[in-house]
Amino acid sequence: MKILGIESSADETAAAVVENGTQVLSSIVASQMDIHTKYGGMVPEVAARSHLEVMLPVIQEALDEAKTTLDEIDGIAVTYGPGLVGSLLIGSLTARTLARLTDKPLYAINHVEAHVYANFLREPEPQFPLLALIVSGGHTQLALFQDHGDYQLLGQTRDDAAGEAFDKVARIIGLPYPGGPSVSQAAKAGDELAFTFPKPQLGKNSLDFSFSGLKTAVLRTAQAEVGGNFRTKSYEIPALLSQKQRNDIAASFQKTVVDILVGRVLQAYQEYKPASVVISGGVAANTTLQEALQERLPSPIHYAPIKYYTDNAAMIASLGYFKTQSGQKTDPLKLKVDPILSM
Ligand code: KG4
Ligand code: ZN
Repeated sequence: MKILGIESSADETAAAVVENGTQVLSSIVASQMDIHTKYGGMVPEVAARSHLEVMLPVIQEALDEAKTTLDEIDGIAVTYGPGLVGSLLIGSLTARTLARLTDKPLYAINHVEAHVYANFLREPEPQFPLLALIVSGGHTQLALFQDHGDYQLLGQTRDDAAGEAFDKVARIIGLPYPGGPSVSQAAKAGDELAFTFPKPQLGKNSLDFSFSGLKTAVLRTAQAEVGGNFRTKSYEIPALLSQKQRNDIAASFQKTVVDILVGRVLQAYQEYKPASVVISGGVAANTTLQEALQERLPSPIHYAPIKYYTDNAAMIASLGYFKTQSGQKTDPLKLKVDPILSM
């Protein structure tokens, strides 16, 4: 069974064809990174316009690369939230129109839930019960899946998402957007013990996360490093930091985030004893995080190919397939987007 997946919730326009939920026949991702890098972050109106321009060519390319046609597709899966409303609308309206025109079933996909399905795109499939850490620019969630579609949220961030913290820290110390890759690159040359940043105290049994205090601690440290007082404006900091200071802050910050994330996964692992542990979302591409989990978890962690951790449509199509198995299709005339959809 072939599912066409469509994704446009943030700054990637993506389409993919996946067979039986696990076999990727094509996965096309048109990134707007270059456009947004100019502004140091994502600009919603620019994102929506760009989705509109490339959506149809990206879908056509996904069909061509999969050596298939819309006629041969068995269903269409599309992200309906969470995300930027203008961006979500482009993908969902396209999918609704295609579903109506071709009379194919339409499946409405929660983007955060779909991130977990990056891990079904490689053999062997992860086993249930499955503990999932989803860490991206917009979300930080820990969830326990008993089966497809049957999950419980164990914890989530109370403020910034993990990827957002990387992006904000990059900005503070003068590294390019997106912050994850640039901070982890700088961290390679830095001393992770140079600075000690605080970890949030959220109560003994809490599986929640918090990153805004850490971001503020990084700002205060950077200010102290460049001038010894807290009056230095944040936009003045990058030019005043030395390469070594920048690398050391990046490494110490990354170590703290990794410690926080690994700590929560271990805590949940001990409590729920899952059959497998998976990670996903852009921050899951971080190799320091992967190594720390591998080292500290009692059982091996199930990894997806790195390209499926960041936003893509193969994970959307995969979840779409599993929805076909439980018959959860959506009326194309009724599908609405939900920018603040939660898990
Ligand atoms: O999943 P994703 O592509 O989009 C969202 O749904 O948010 O995640 C993007 C986020 C960005 O915040 C980016 O800085 C972060 O993932 N990221 C990383 C790495 N690569 C991307 N964070 C840490 N280390 C990385 N290697
Ligand atoms: Zn995402």
